[in-house]
Amino acid sequence: MRVYIGDIAQSVGETVDLKGWAYNTRSSGKVKFLELRDGTGIIPCVFFAGECDDKALSVFEQITQECSVRVTGTVRKHPKHEKVFELGVKSAEIIGASPNYPITPKEHGIEFLMENRHLWLRSRRQHAILRIRAEIIAAIRDFFDGRGFTLTDSPIFTPSACEGTSNLFQTQYFDEKMFLSQSGQLYIEATAASLGKVYCFGPTFRAEKSKTRRHLIEFWMVEPEVAFNDMYDNMELAEQFVEYIIQRTLKNRAGEFKALERDTSQLAKILAPFPRLHYREAADLVKKENPEFKTGDDFGGADETIISSKYDKPVFVHHYPAAVKAFYMKEDPREPGSAMGCDLLATEGYGEIIGGGQREDNLEILQRKVHEHGLREEDFRWYLDLRRYGSFPHSGFGLGVERTVAWLCGLPHVRETIPFPRLYGRSYP
Ligand code: 4AD
Repeated sequence: MRVYIGDIAQSVGETVDLKGWAYNTRSSGKVKFLELRDGTGIIPCVFFAGECDDKALSVFEQITQECSVRVTGTVRKHPKHEKVFELGVKSAEIIGASPNYPITPKEHGIEFLMENRHLWLRSRRQHAILRIRAEIIAAIRDFFDGRGFTLTDSPIFTPSACEGTSNLFQTQYFDEKMFLSQSGQLYIEATAASLGKVYCFGPTFRAEKSKTRRHLIEFWMVEPEVAFNDMYDNMELAEQFVEYIIQRTLKNRAGEFKALERDTSQLAKILAPFPRLHYREAADLVKKENPEFKTGDDFGGADETIISSKYDKPVFVHHYPAAVKAFYMKEDPREPGSAMGCDLLATEGYGEIIGGGQREDNLEILQRKVHEHGLREEDFRWYLDLRRYGSFPHSGFGLGVERTVAWLCGLPHVRETIPFPRLYGRSYP
């Protein structure tokens, strides 16, 4: 009977077939051990002369790291450890050989591992990260689906820029020039006028020629948009969302966090509400430790770390100078020059994980902003229509999946947060 290692507890005493890959082997006298992994778990398979046939013993000698195998045997409880199981092997067969597997248990440099990313994904650590990523994505979908939001995905090919023109990926759309989407936001502003509460979730692209530990060229972003929400409602939604992602992921993926040796005690305390700082207050904090910083500047990664280091919860910074923000952000009528944008900075120096705010809903102001940002009004005809026909206050935000994975897993770099990262200087495999 074929079973998976993850379900093995239900088969104690039974003879089962396991299929998977050889993680490790070792011998101790007459007993030989194969650590078998099948994606759902790892189990020691014990080859003991007398218990298994002679063929199985000779198969064992041919097993090399990562060859695929089928083993048949009896499931039993580990003699010393409760809740640990092993397989007493009766027979074994190699399905696919694996001569000279390049990733050995010794230390490898990061460039070598990135070059072999397709194989590196089989390691225990990468396995844990991918499971946590999948849980975060499931939490994202469940949060919005369970609160009356409708998923309305945005196009990847776009004729215009959402987040500035400096990092656009240009591509050909038959005879037309097009861009890869930097954000689905503009399109969900349209679907929000149809459905009220919407979100999009997909890959986004930024041609950023910088090598930092927080930037990917292709990353996944979830973007909710809510009709008639202002910037303050937006922050409430964002903090409930982040609390939900953290608490659910910690609960459902405890084993994976343990495998990563991630101390999650601080994350476990993160509950809404989160502190909120006006940009001016945040700038004052930064200036104390970075004398180069001037009020009006945007915060760099190190400045974000200065701000977040003062809190043990993520912190919102709102009312950024309009000059450093995108064309679509609403300027606060009570505070000209300040955008009603609100970014969320993660704890432990992980930087901005959410960017968002209230959108400009006045047609004339938005037209002026389009021009001031050097954009062509004709590209935004449809977007301006949303202000011509039943304009409405509305707000939303974008959360970057990879930065969230890096933060929760405690990873120093975003390159391990996605199966096949696209980084400046790396597009293989
Ligand atoms: O602040 P950003 O650029 O906001 C937007 O794109 C808005 N249109 C979203 C909205 O309001 N609907 O990006 C949002 C988030 C950032 O906080 C960060 O988590 C992530 O996307 N992000 C990146 N992640 C990895 N690599 C990059 N190059 C990223 N750029 C942004």
